[in-house]
Order: sequence, then structure tokens, then C-alpha cells
Amino acid sequence: MLQFPNGFLWGAGTSAYQIEGAWNEGGKGESIWDRFVHRPGNVLNNDTGDFACDHYHRMPQDVALMKKLGLQSYRFSISWPRVLPEGRGPSIISGRGPSTSSGRGAVNPKGLDFYDRLVDSLLEVDIVPNVTLNHWDLPQALQDAGGWPNRDNADWFVEYARVVFDRLGDRVALWSTHNEPWVAAFLGYAMGVHAPGIRDYAQAYQAVHHLLLSHGKTVQLFRQGGYRGEIGIVLNLEHFQPAGDREADLAACERVSQEFANLFLDPLFKGHYPEMLFDWIGSHQPDVQAGDLGLINQPIDFLGINHYRTELVAYDPDGALLKAKTTPFSASGWGQTEMGWGIDPPGLPAELLNVKENYGNPKMYITENGCAFPDTPDNTGFVVDEKRIDYLRAHIQAAFEAIESGVNLQGYYAWSLMDNFELAMGYGPRFGLVRVDYKTGQRIPKQSARWYSEVIAQNGVDE
Ligand code: FCB
Repeated sequence: MLQFPNGFLWGAGTSAYQIEGAWNEGGKGESIWDRFVHRPGNVLNNDTGDFACDHYHRMPQDVALMKKLGLQSYRFSISWPRVLPEGRGPSIISGRGPSTSSGRGAVNPKGLDFYDRLVDSLLEVDIVPNVTLNHWDLPQALQDAGGWPNRDNADWFVEYARVVFDRLGDRVALWSTHNEPWVAAFLGYAMGVHAPGIRDYAQAYQAVHHLLLSHGKTVQLFRQGGYRGEIGIVLNLEHFQPAGDREADLAACERVSQEFANLFLDPLFKGHYPEMLFDWIGSHQPDVQAGDLGLINQPIDFLGINHYRTELVAYDPDGALLKAKTTPFSASGWGQTEMGWGIDPPGLPAELLNVKENYGNPKMYITENGCAFPDTPDNTGFVVDEKRIDYLRAHIQAAFEAIESGVNLQGYYAWSLMDNFELAMGYGPRFGLVRVDYKTGQRIPKQSARWYSEVIAQNGVDE
């Protein structure tokens, strides 16, 4: 048995758009994901998050289920347009920007009440709330004003954060500003496979800068407001290796690693953008104003790390802006998940050690790790998902190894608590510890949920 340190926090995660449903109920405004999935030619088999797991209506049962599984913490996100249907909050910064039919700054009390009840329900059963402010569901009204590439969006995010902090800031232990800003910026604004479906690298890099700027300003607000709890940000740190020894492959791998990791870690921890990457992208560089990098480089309390896979990187003259092509890499005998992601448990400690060695070993949480496999339920709906157990076990063992090497890792969250709407894929891939029957909404814990409950109870995993 590999015994984790006392106080190590075990949890599971979800995000608002992926589970809540109720997309137009209770006063909620439209998000960019609502718009994206409702437009003609939806490429997700016409799947939408309209109903999803119906968590908005089943929240009390879901919290009871978490308790039954023994979760110590639950990571979820708040839907910005559920709280502020038109995106704007009471102005604390400037009056510019979209004014709304309902009046700029209108808070939706029902939306805020929902999250208030969720936090209280968790605390009642001793589950630590870990709240993400932005898991990509930007209010459509703000996208209509330009979205993340618009500098004002950073201030509007701070208005939103303040509304949420004022209501929940006395009870939430862990806050994250953004989930995977790389994905929000590049899949949303450069590759167009996520909402809002734009294909323009210049907009994507500008979005990165404003996501980071809004992070820094929000951390500042959080400190000034004297709210309880800790605040950080969640990055997707996948592992990249060069596909070969050719100089061109090594350089391509360096560019890809810089775009995923250094583009965020350098400004957050060191107050500058990665020079090599910025030289390479040339005219696509974002507009950065004096003082911005100082704001981004605020001390944070923890870094959240989402990690799923390893990729090999080769030089490819047709490979978009970075002239790179990635292919999945799997450790010997591991194969790929249903997403076509290469399973490589050593990739996880490699990324954690990079943060330890190059960014001052901040307090870290693995905020997402997990896998989709084609689960086969028996006639009662029960799923024996041994492959998922193997994946989770190997990654938890790898996390243990990182702790032994001195990484300041304080917790682990499996993705996901339950099967849900996989963004850009729909309901095909199932990542849950708990199976969801999408016809009835019924939740049935899988074998992996039972296994994970034991890990939590023992605060340890088999060797
Ligand atoms: C991550 C997202 C999460 C989920 C997993 C599979 O990039 O943060 O919402 O979709 O991938």
C-alpha cells in the first residue's frame, strides 16, 4: 500500500455546462455553448447540454451520492450566465460595454441561490467545495461584444467574480479563476472546435492575455475583499515528447510545450511571456499593456493541474501556426483511451516535476485525471470498468511517486464524478465514476467508483 500524507484531499470533478442542463430555466442567460450547440449543422450528433445530467434539478441527490462514495471534496464550476444572464455585474470598474435590456448588472437571484444551496449541501456532509469561476461557458451577450479577445471582458469577469465572492466567499475553501485557459483560447478562438467557433490565431493569443489578465485582477480583488479560502488557476499540462532526434522535431516539441505550459506558467509565476514562442508567432502576439504582466504575476495559493495524456511532436510544414503535428504516445502495454489519447502514467510526474523545478514548487492539486472507455453495462446497468480502474490506479501511483520526489501535491480529483456532455464530442465518451442513463437520468456507480471509495477510505493505493 502506498500511503498518502495525512490531509491529502480526494475528490471528483464536473463542470456546469457538462452536467446542469436547465439551459434556459430559472432566469439563466444564454452562454456561448448554448449558441454553439443550437446552431444549424451541430457536429455533435445534435447532442446538446440542454438536459445533460439534469443536475440543476437533482443536486440534492447528487450530493448524497458524493457522500456515499466518500468524496472529501467536490470540484464544480459556476455558470456565469446563470448568475449574470447578460454577463455584466454591478460595475466596479468602468461603465463601458454592452448595456442590457434587463439593465446592466442585473444579478439572477435564482441562479446565485442554486450555488448557495449547493455549497451549503456540501458543507452539511463535510465535503470541501472547490469552485471554478470559468469552465468556458461565457455569456453570449459578452461574446457579442467580442468575447475574450476584447480587453473589457477581463473587467467584466472581475464584476462577475465579485458577485460570486460576495455570496459564497465566506464558505468556499478553494477557488479557481479559470479552467484550462489554453482550451478556452485555442479550441474556441483558433481552431473553432469549441464555442464560440472562431478560427483566428491572433484572437486566440489575445484571448490568452485577457484570460490571464482577468485572473490577476480577480486574485487581487479576492485579497482585497478579505474572503475566506484560497485561490488559484487550473492549467492543462499534458506531456509532450519529441517524435525523433531531428533538430526540427525538437524545436517543434519545444514550441508546443511552450504554448501549452510556458505561455501560462511564465507570466503567472515569473511575470513574462515565453520569448521563443512569441518570436515564432510574430504578428499574432497579443497586445500587452504596461502593468499587465505585474497584475498577472500575483502570488497564488495553489496551481490546479489537469492531466490526461502524452503526445509525440514532429515538425510538420502543414501544421498550422506552430508547424507541428502531434500523435498519441502510450507507455508499453497501455494503449489508448476511447478519445484516442495515449496512456502514459509517467507523463504525470514529469509535468509535476517541471512545475516543482522551474516554478518554485507551489502547492498543487491534480484537478482532473481520468479516461473514457466504452463501458458495457449489465442488465441492471452496472458497469465493470477494469480499464478505468487500471488507468486511475497507475496515475495515482505516479502521483505518489511525484510526492516522494518532493512535489508539493496536496490532492487528487478524478474526472469525472459522472458521465456527462463531453465538450465538442457530446454523449459518446463516458468519463464517469458513476454511469448516467441519459434517458432516465438514473445514476449507477461503476466498479471504479467502489474502487475509488476504498482508495479514499485508506488514503492510499495498492503498490
Ligand atoms: C478537460 C476538461 C473537462 C473534460 C475533460 C475530459 O479538458 O476540463 O471539462 O471535458 O477534459
